[in-house]
Amino acid sequence: MGKPEVLPPLATPSAAGEAVLQVQGLKTHFFTHGGVVKAVDGVDLEVRAGEVLGLVGESGSGKSITGFSIIGLIDEPGRIVGGSMRYRGRELVGAPERELQRLRGKEIAMIFQDPMMTLNPVLRIDTQMIEAIQAHERTSAAAARARALEALAMVGIPSPAERLLAYPHQLSGGMRQRVAIAIALLNRPQLIIADEPTTALDVTIQAQILYEVQKLCRETGTAMVWITHDLAVVSGLADRVAVMYAGRIVEAGATADVVRRPAHPYTRGLIDSIPTRATHGQLLRQIPGMTPSLLQLPPGCAFRPRCSRASEACLAEPLPTQPAPGRSLRCWHPLEPEQA
Ligand SMILES: Nc1ncnc2c1ncn2[C@@H]1O[C@H](COP(=O)(O)OP(=O)(O)O)[C@@H](O)[C@H]1O
Ligand code: SF4
Ligand SMILES: [Mg+2]
Repeated sequence: MGKPEVLPPLATPSAAGEAVLQVQGLKTHFFTHGGVVKAVDGVDLEVRAGEVLGLVGESGSGKSITGFSIIGLIDEPGRIVGGSMRYRGRELVGAPERELQRLRGKEIAMIFQDPMMTLNPVLRIDTQMIEAIQAHERTSAAAARARALEALAMVGIPSPAERLLAYPHQLSGGMRQRVAIAIALLNRPQLIIADEPTTALDVTIQAQILYEVQKLCRETGTAMVWITHDLAVVSGLADRVAVMYAGRIVEAGATADVVRRPAHPYTRGLIDSIPTRATHGQLLRQIPGMTPSLLQLPPGCAFRPRCSRASEACLAEPLPTQPAPGRSLRCWHPLEPEQA
């Protein structure tokens, strides 16, 4: 049988709303000489087809390790020690390496903060894109090239045919990241994990890429986990948001709902530190204190040393609650809507 000459278009919506990823009680720990670093310690997440989930938290909260765990990139001394990650119903924790390898790069793709984690500096863009397709699909170079062009156009790259002939170093940082995103799209993934991919770019280019990525998820039915330390970035992009602190999701819900009515004092703190027109020229309110060392977490709520609402009760681990439909929370003294 010959190789197919035409590949199906990139944008073919899958069953919208189907749960693509369900993470429950995920624990990824690092067994270091200094002790056990519980980078991810009981994380629950769910992403549906066509949906963007924003995973937000300060640096060191365990966002990247959550992403790497999903894509299967945890190396020694790290190990997934508990929980479940179901991709379209299939359990990934403990799945054979061969199956994970097949999923990676085809059905589940990752976009890294540094596009050079994806791009090979010595190969032309077209070579890399065609290889990325042919690694997973039997197809002619011409059909692969056509899809590469389509993907470049989708992420808003002008004159894509010309860019295909370039080497990575001939492109600007923004263009390189767009190409890396286009590569992530090539095999029509059902799930994309994007780890702060626009953090290094200027605000206008960030906004453009965010807009295109969101549109793309809607059009293709792709589920996306967008990791960022910047709540302002996801508030304009994500359908739902999960706020991470010291290895746990402390609050989650529909983005507009969480941003308008945060219940967790940490979420409130993140919102207060976003510059707005109203706070222009004023000193922004920062969350006091620093992110704790995961080697020496205080007993009970990890946010306690920084929290103005802390009480004796917070010496015990806050249990997960559902304060409203679609919302989840871990806090003994949540903010009332009027306080939020
Ligand atoms: N290889 C490693 N060995 C030990 N600890 C690690 C390793 N990689 C990450 N960690 C720890 O895991 C925690 C979470 O890291 P990370 O997920 O990269 O945070 P974020 O992406 O939210 O900034 C950090 O506190 C870091 O110290
Ligand atoms: S549980 Fe207590 S310390 Fe933790 S965020 Fe809630 S009020 Fe603050
Ligand atoms: Mg990170």
